[in-house]
Amino acid sequence: MNLSKEDIVRLLVTEDEGERSSLIAESYRTKVSRRGDKVYLRGLIELSNRCRKDCLYCGIRSSNKAVERYELDDEAVVSEAMFAFRAGYGSVVIQSGERNDRAFTSRITRLVRKIKELSDGRLGITLSCGEQSYDIYKEWREAGAHRYLLRIESSTKSLYEKIHPADSRHSFEYRLGCLGFLRDAGYKVGTGVMIGLPFQTPENLADDLLFFKRIGADMIGMGPYLEHRQTPLYAYKDMLLPKSRRLELTIRMIALLRILMPDINIAATTALQVIDPMGREKAVMAGANVIMPNMTDSSKRGNYQIYENKPGVGEDAEITKSNLESNLAACGIGIGWNEWGDFDTAGVPAGRECRVPGQDGNA
Ligand code: 5AD
Repeated sequence: MNLSKEDIVRLLVTEDEGERSSLIAESYRTKVSRRGDKVYLRGLIELSNRCRKDCLYCGIRSSNKAVERYELDDEAVVSEAMFAFRAGYGSVVIQSGERNDRAFTSRITRLVRKIKELSDGRLGITLSCGEQSYDIYKEWREAGAHRYLLRIESSTKSLYEKIHPADSRHSFEYRLGCLGFLRDAGYKVGTGVMIGLPFQTPENLADDLLFFKRIGADMIGMGPYLEHRQTPLYAYKDMLLPKSRRLELTIRMIALLRILMPDINIAATTALQVIDPMGREKAVMAGANVIMPNMTDSSKRGNYQIYENKPGVGEDAEITKSNLESNLAACGIGIGWNEWGDFDTAGVPAGRECRVPGQDGNA
């Protein structure tokens, strides 16, 4: 369905309870009729918190000297992937701080091949390893990864620039261009934004949803912004919406997105769970259909603190799995065991908006 920017803004801010509940009900109905009532699971492997970026909101930014940096070895990655495979998760996501050196990029290629091999091609692999060149995206795609997550963080350039350092490492245009590269390299393309950022308006959020639709995203992950003490953006904590409001805005963003893009995969993100232990389940009831259970070993989880109070620190993969299963069961939400849960959209070309000036992935 098409919604105008004005409709979206109104539904994001309305205090009319009736209007709010019909939005959520309409979204849930849409999801069930287009994609069914199940959620798909993607086991999350947090490979490393080493990062060349210095994003002003992120706890693992390179200038944060208070974090202990780690990198999982191949054996740990393989054992997490095996856990996911045996648990019936269907897919894994390898997420990492951003690095561009050859040692890193070749390691990802090797790990992707290994995971494909050990699962006889059956585990789906999503990568979330930041901005790379077209050639690297292509190499990883050929190794067997078929989905990629790269959030745009905000589709409003002026807001993007307020939350990132002003240097060539943090270019809005290059980030957009990467979404085009990913499409050209043959991935299912996932992006997303943070919700409740300082300086962000409901109009900015409406533009984000219209941006996702315009570029034909296959997957979206949106979560509330959570202030982190060891980051520069913490200075603006007093201008933030209360966390409960950020949760509510995220739920409404998910509902509106499901109505705008009925067939795509929408994640109920971990950041929702920080605000409300049942935050992800609420998101599923509002239109989300993907959950990414963390599989990182309990001894390492504390270090991948993009935001504070990350849930499940100290838990291991088995406990995370059984907690999630019982929460979902309590809400009557089914699980698509052993399924990739992709939807075949036409692979809409990303268009001119997602082109790095002077570079063409296909050239
Ligand atoms: N609060 C919420 N989300 C955050 N991310 C990074 N820092 C924060 C934060 N403080 C999100 C970004 C990034 C993803 C991996 O985590 O959107 O793309």
